[in-house]
Amino acid sequence: MDLNNLTPSREHAEPIYLQLYRRYCEAIATGKLKAGDRVPSVRSLASELNLARGTVEAAYQMLVGEGYFVARGAAGTVVSPRLAKLAEPARPKIAARSVSDAASQQGIPGEAMPFQLGLPALDAFPRKTWARLAGRTLRTHEALAMTYPDPAGFAPLRRAIATYLGIARGIDCSHEQVFVTAGYHGALELARRVLLRDGDVGWYEDPGYVLARRFLAQSGLRLAPVPVDDEGLDVARGQQRAPDARFAVVTPTHQSPMGMAMSLPRRLELLEWADAARAWIIEDDYDSEFRYHGRPLPALKSLDRHGRVLYTGTFSKVLLPGLRLAYLVVPEAQVGRMRDMVDHLPGPGSILPQATVAAFMEQGHFARHLRRMRTLYAERRGYLVDALAQEMGDEVMVQPQAGGIHVLARLDAGRDDRALAAAARARGMGLQALGDWRVGRSRRGGLIMGFANFATPEAATDAVRRLRVVMGQT
Ligand SMILES: Cc1ncc(COP(=O)(O)O)c(C=O)c1O
Repeated sequence: MDLNNLTPSREHAEPIYLQLYRRYCEAIATGKLKAGDRVPSVRSLASELNLARGTVEAAYQMLVGEGYFVARGAAGTVVSPRLAKLAEPARPKIAARSVSDAASQQGIPGEAMPFQLGLPALDAFPRKTWARLAGRTLRTHEALAMTYPDPAGFAPLRRAIATYLGIARGIDCSHEQVFVTAGYHGALELARRVLLRDGDVGWYEDPGYVLARRFLAQSGLRLAPVPVDDEGLDVARGQQRAPDARFAVVTPTHQSPMGMAMSLPRRLELLEWADAARAWIIEDDYDSEFRYHGRPLPALKSLDRHGRVLYTGTFSKVLLPGLRLAYLVVPEAQVGRMRDMVDHLPGPGSILPQATVAAFMEQGHFARHLRRMRTLYAERRGYLVDALAQEMGDEVMVQPQAGGIHVLARLDAGRDDRALAAAARARGMGLQALGDWRVGRSRRGGLIMGFANFATPEAATDAVRRLRVVMGQT
């Protein structure tokens, strides 16, 4: 090991012997020094580093005392042979698939890739207002933020969400029914822990949101893919395929990724099934705020007379995914069990971002922001749809969608959407293949593309041209 790596600094606040001790611990933990390696004698290290012998001795005594070093008399001092395992830190292999997931979902931190899914318009976020509110929150809640937060969420935010849902989504709920969670996954986890058991079967839309499908399957639930048609999830097919299902996960306002709304007869059929089967419906209302034609449909939850629907919403699309804030609205009868469970879960974290969101909502910035974004997204959606029409002609067919922040472009039958999306992602584009979101087979694939960050028609055209090149090569 290079002795220079050990050189402690006199400017450092920590005493020299402690710095030296820590450097050795680190060197052992990271494998730079291995079990059995001989270390310099106290005298030679002191002279090498220009330190007093007592200083080096103090560090060595600690290292021997804690079992890092073994003193072998005349044979010198060595790194303890018992640390053999530590010396070779296991480096977990990163699975190829998780890399592509991460890349397609997150991209480069702070930047949007062309077509990146799931990201709101980062350039249009009201940063100044946000910074002002965040600063004020920090000052007003300084003392409160130092203590343990309520794992059910910051009360004023729960109130602001309940009020918003009453007005915007037709959901009549008290703030006690609202649980703030760490993203949609946090909401799913809370619902699962309280209401479901390992191995329970649930209906999952096919095609459907791929990340939540993997998350639920990974947490021990069994998912039965149920096809969606023009009216949304096909309830009769669900009953045939998995008559013993204990739950169903649906996106009724804007099916993800196909974009249709679930019809009223289907909604009633689904609610009736859940009531008769004593099953749970998880309603994922991830982007209902953005609708470009007609009025947003009320949530399925607003029709829930028997307390079978758990409603989830997220701040990822309406504000920023970096906040990692979502919420779960539970039937009144389940509030007590949920309340008990949140004590055993990590919860949504610090109150500071939650308090900033609450202030943003209470002071009318949220409603204003949504209004602005609705107009902006309608415009940006147009940039992408026009560019696809101009550059690709009838090679793609844009699936009509009344809302949302993605476009689904269907490809000619026989074209491999997964290979195309993978090749595009390898060239820094953030789109995804419909085939990856589907369990069953389909003749026609498609590309799911985000458009929220196309700030100009030229940016959309440029990205579509790049995609066109990849299509030519795949
Ligand atoms: C269908 C669907 N549901 C939920 C979410 C929200 O997830 P989160 O709150 O974890 O960002 C997303 C985000 O992309 C989504 O596409």
